[in-house]
Amino acid sequence: MFRGRLVTVEGIDGSGKTTHIDHICACLRQQNISVIRTREPGGTELGEALREILIRRVDLAMDAETELLLMFSARMEHLRKLICPALENGTWVVIDRFIDATYAYQGGGRGVSMDRIRLLENWVLNGLTPDLTILLDLPIEISLARTNARKQASDRFELQDREFKNTVREAYLERARQNPERIRIVEASAEMSIVKRAISDILGSLIEQIHSQI
Ligand SMILES: Nc1ncnc2c1ncn2[C@@H]1O[C@H](COP(=O)(O)OP(=O)(O)OP(=O)(O)O)[C@@H](O)[C@H]1O
Ligand SMILES: [Mg+2]
Repeated sequence: MFRGRLVTVEGIDGSGKTTHIDHICACLRQQNISVIRTREPGGTELGEALREILIRRVDLAMDAETELLLMFSARMEHLRKLICPALENGTWVVIDRFIDATYAYQGGGRGVSMDRIRLLENWVLNGLTPDLTILLDLPIEISLARTNARKQASDRFELQDREFKNTVREAYLERARQNPERIRIVEASAEMSIVKRAISDILGSLIEQIHSQI
């Protein structure tokens, strides 16, 4: 049995993660690949409860490092209960935000030390790295226009100002510069069909690469 692959989708609010994960899962299933989709923070019962606190409870003041630790608590649970068992079973896992979001939001946005994040990454992920990360990159103006069009109540991160969002975007781009093999930047402002095509091509080359290794 081959190990499943871990695919993560990253990007600021409204960049199209939810929309394009549908497409990613459909592409993989078409190739007879068994796949589960999940999200962070969340993915387990406890993780979803922590998500509620981390994202929805805007009334709760929270220290940036407390936020970081809660993110990693949810992640530990997610890895142990869902992600690792699935990968070991040969199932692919597609996650809506993962480790790079921590560097972007808690590191970039909140200004927590990147070294501290790395320390937790080494402990909690214990060497696990996504096989592929799709970074949907979007200018802040378009992000705001897309999220404002949504009627949903704002969350803790959506409520942050432009500068915060720009810092998050820049931190994501910096992660991509540091990990050029793994993180593939897709221009999320392009027309939907063009974004889809770009993602299909990236997935196609990952699958081809895996086949060539067998
Ligand atoms: N390339 C695109 N062109 C036009 N509209 C798009 C494009 N991609 C996504 N959208 C639209 O933008 C909105 C936000 O997309 P989506 O919910 O998938 O983003 P998200 O990254 O999951 O956001 P969040 O982080 O807030 O969950 C949706 O209405 C979606 O239809
Ligand atoms: Mg979404």
